[in-house]
Amino acid sequence: MSLILRYMTMGDVPQVITIDRLSFDPPWSARSYAYEVSESTYSHMVVLEQTVEVAPATGLRRLVKNLSGAQQAERQIVAYGGLWHIADEAHISTIATHPAERGRGYGEIVLAGMVRRALTLNAAYVVLEVRVSNTAAQNLYRKHDFQITDVKPRYYHNNGEDAYDMRLMLTDPVMKQRIEERYASLRAQHRFIDQYTDVPPPRGQT
Ligand SMILES: CC(C)(COP(=O)(O)OP(=O)(O)OC[C@H]1O[C@@H](n2cnc3c(N)ncnc32)[C@H](O)[C@@H]1OP(=O)(O)O)[C@@H](O)C(=O)NCCC(=O)NCCS
Repeated sequence: MSLILRYMTMGDVPQVITIDRLSFDPPWSARSYAYEVSESTYSHMVVLEQTVEVAPATGLRRLVKNLSGAQQAERQIVAYGGLWHIADEAHISTIATHPAERGRGYGEIVLAGMVRRALTLNAAYVVLEVRVSNTAAQNLYRKHDFQITDVKPRYYHNNGEDAYDMRLMLTDPVMKQRIEERYASLRAQHRFIDQYTDVPPPRGQT
């Protein structure tokens, strides 16, 4: 099995909206993702893709596969996220892990990747909103040094729930080093390929 962290493409949108629908109420539309991936100049959408080697086929199946040149591997998006970069601000717009893949550190890889991307874009801070009831996500953000800085009353329209505003300052050199060390440690632990945090974006993002 291998993992790759990379920019989201239009081809990823069907899998991403499947995870989104299993994770959020209300979910984003396919059109919203298409806009973020192909039009927005502020968006740095990311996916974590898992490749699993499939056992070699035997007999006729093997012959057909070899003739067609088909690879014996299955690719699947296990988690994704969205980052908007505008001037000093990096804003985490979304993050989710497929329900069947939660608790394996994938959300953490995506979050650490977006934070490192914010650093390499020279943002001064990262901000996000999270439901006050969403303790799993809050724990993830706290683990990565985000702090609650504000409460936005009745922020979520579907049930009138409040949001916490959570922030991570990137200007302190000690924090920068801590972020880099944590990222390096996650990379060593999960051995993922990184084609996101310090590579040029596929379009003209700022
Ligand atoms: C929040 C979410 C992205 C976490 O993804 P994940 O891949 O399961 O998380 P990880 O396995 O990387 O866990 C990293 C940390 O998050 C926290 N965490 C994750 N799941 C948790 C849970 N069920 N309960 C408490 N803390 C949890 C822990 O601090 C954990 O670190 P630990 O393993 O050292 O305890 C995932 O639960 C999800 O997709 N939720 C639905 C969408 C959502 O709420 N997104 C956030 C919107 S603001």
